[in-house]
Amino acid sequence: MQWRRRHCCAHTAKLLYLLSLLGILFFLVHQVWLPRLTGMPWWRGHPVVYGGGEAHSTKAKWNTSVQHSQWKFVIIPQPTFKADTNSSSHEKQGVYQTQQHTSLENTMAANTSQSDEGDLSGTITHGPFPYIINEPDKCTENRAAPFLVLLIATEARQVEARNAIRQTWGNESVAPALGFIRLFLLGKKDGELGLLQQRMLEAESRRHHDIIQQDFLDSYKNLTIKTLMGMNWVAMHCPHTSYVMKTDSDMFVNTEYLIFKLLRPELKPRRNYFTGNNMRGYAPNRNKNSKWYMPQELYPGDKYPTFCSGTGYVFSGDLTRKIYQASLSIRHLHLEDVYVGICLVKLGIEPTPPPNEFLFNHWRVAYSSCKYSHLITSHGFHPNELLKYWHHLQSNKPNACINAFKERAGGAHSHSSWDRLLVP
Ligand SMILES: *[C@@H]1O[C@H](CO)[C@@H](O)[C@H](O)[C@H]1NC(C)=O
Ligand SMILES: *[C@@H]1O[C@H](CO)[C@@H](O)[C@H](O)[C@H]1NC(C)=O
Ligand SMILES: *[C@@H]1O[C@H](CO)[C@@H](O)[C@H](O)[C@H]1NC(C)=O
Ligand SMILES: *[C@@H]1O[C@H](CO)[C@@H](O)[C@H](O)[C@H]1NC(C)=O
Repeated sequence: MQWRRRHCCAHTAKLLYLLSLLGILFFLVHQVWLPRLTGMPWWRGHPVVYGGGEAHSTKAKWNTSVQHSQWKFVIIPQPTFKADTNSSSHEKQGVYQTQQHTSLENTMAANTSQSDEGDLSGTITHGPFPYIINEPDKCTENRAAPFLVLLIATEARQVEARNAIRQTWGNESVAPALGFIRLFLLGKKDGELGLLQQRMLEAESRRHHDIIQQDFLDSYKNLTIKTLMGMNWVAMHCPHTSYVMKTDSDMFVNTEYLIFKLLRPELKPRRNYFTGNNMRGYAPNRNKNSKWYMPQELYPGDKYPTFCSGTGYVFSGDLTRKIYQASLSIRHLHLEDVYVGICLVKLGIEPTPPPNEFLFNHWRVAYSSCKYSHLITSHGFHPNELLKYWHHLQSNKPNACINAFKERAGGAHSHSSWDRLLVP
């Protein structure tokens, strides 16, 4: 009797075991796509993302030939832009799932002409966040149109860095006759310290008139908003500038080389021109602890489009308005440079490779007057170092490379620092 009962129990256990396995299997299969439909905070705010288009029905998700990795990126309407946007326009929004760039670009081009028609003829507004500090007349003050606008991302506490930049590569006297505008881009900090910093910042602004600030929280993750504020400013207040550069406050920028050797004022200003340190074929970082972490949900694709490192990129003035407008229908990603790269795909513009690969460096190049007189950006400078190297460079201008050539002529070591620059 006991044996039988045990035997029977064993049978039941086996049955239960099998059933639970099936249950787990069923659960797993569902899990593959269920979290994509629920639980993602931003979907609640933007339910249209998976709303339209047959391709996003659950059937398509079961079809294994439709791979998530093929979804390049998600485009959704900006909730802050145009409250009167008719919901029918949402039909255009959705997930692109094509690997061919041409068809991707076609889709986006079609999208642009539909959704931005009204804006192209209309005027640009300050966007979702009002200006706290603005310099609306900076561009038109004394001249027709400047040659270059420098947009420098910075935070309130980086007073020293701003002062160093004002005295060095951001000093208008680098190209006094051309029209050269320097603007520091800032958001707003919270709390007591934020209030104090705000008062100091306003005093600094009254003194130098080179600060613009909008009412958004100043954080690393809001860098895209900051950059778009700069683009918005140029589009609104300085649309006829020949060129714009966006860079950071811990950079060395050889503005003289940039203006006179790369952009060259004597030439007709280029159009649809975008250059910098071209990052080609980069994959999203899926490591949660990384500064550059990109959640699968935000960017499902397995490769970014070619973008230029945010440490310093340069573009023609006509692009400012185009990029800003493209951004109105592309959901923000916190990685500012990747995001601008996506806007360029939408515009059908490919970044131009710089004339040589040593011009734009997103790392720190070991200093020598020779190297630094032939590059445009180098990354990671304390304000004091910036002052020191800048002054050294200025005082050694005529013979910046003499020592390097002496070393080479000496021939004892083929690995002089100049050689190392040429052979990475
Ligand atoms: C899966 O998708 C492919 C291409 O999208 C299609 O050719 C195929 O018939 C689909 N299979 C099923 C089972 O729906
Ligand atoms: C959207 O368009 C439809 C028809 O074109 C119209 O009936 C509706 O009122 C519009 N909705 C809004 C919010 O403008
Ligand atoms: C900019 O450079 C000029 C000439 O070298 C100098 O007189 C001026 O003080 C500099 N500006 C700042 C803010 O340092
Ligand atoms: C970005 O700024 C907005 C507006 O101030 C704020 O609500 C949001 O929390 C900020 N985001 C991050 C990640 O700091």
